[in-house]
Amino acid sequence: MTWRLDRLPGPASSTSAAATAFRWHATSPVSGSTSWVSTSRRCEDITVARFPPDSFDAIVAFWSIIHVPVSRQPDLLDRITSWSRPGAWFTATVGATRWTGVERDWLGVTGSSMYWSHTDWPTFRGWLTERGSTIDREEFVPEGGSGHQWVLAQLA
Ligand SMILES: C[S@@+](CC[C@H](N)C(=O)[O-])C[C@H]1O[C@@H](n2cnc3c(N)ncnc32)[C@H](O)[C@@H]1O
Repeated sequence: MTWRLDRLPGPASSTSAAATAFRWHATSPVSGSTSWVSTSRRCEDITVARFPPDSFDAIVAFWSIIHVPVSRQPDLLDRITSWSRPGAWFTATVGATRWTGVERDWLGVTGSSMYWSHTDWPTFRGWLTERGSTIDREEFVPEGGSGHQWVLAQLA
């Protein structure tokens, strides 16, 4: 399977705009048909996932890396960079401020809990640029009194 990325016109100014700023198609070399990202390759556990070098033209990680222990995120970026072709797009929701903890009764569900772990945006941005990535867009996504960071970058 090969991957193609089509950029939509217009600025991305919110989470939903960020999510729709790209139209992702998986193009089957057999049928030539296109479909939405639901057919994309998903990894079971990104802390241990392995793909061959130069496998992807784009990697999307909305609201997922922020649940991986922050100490493991630099290694994850190393692997993402190695899986991607030079110039591949990377878009993700990452931390805006440094925080690791568990939110109880998450989304109002009694007894549920959600683990979060992220560094602040300047640090994560540095991890990207240290690996040769070029930041294309960066935007704070407010959520109540806090928020996260959206980034679009081209990987080295
Ligand atoms: C808040 S949900 C976000 C779901 C979806 N990406 C979205 O934008 O609505 C957090 C997601 O992170 C994923 N996630 C957390 N840790 C992960 C890991 N180690 N490997 C793969 N996915 C992980 C969970 O499976 C879950 O789908």
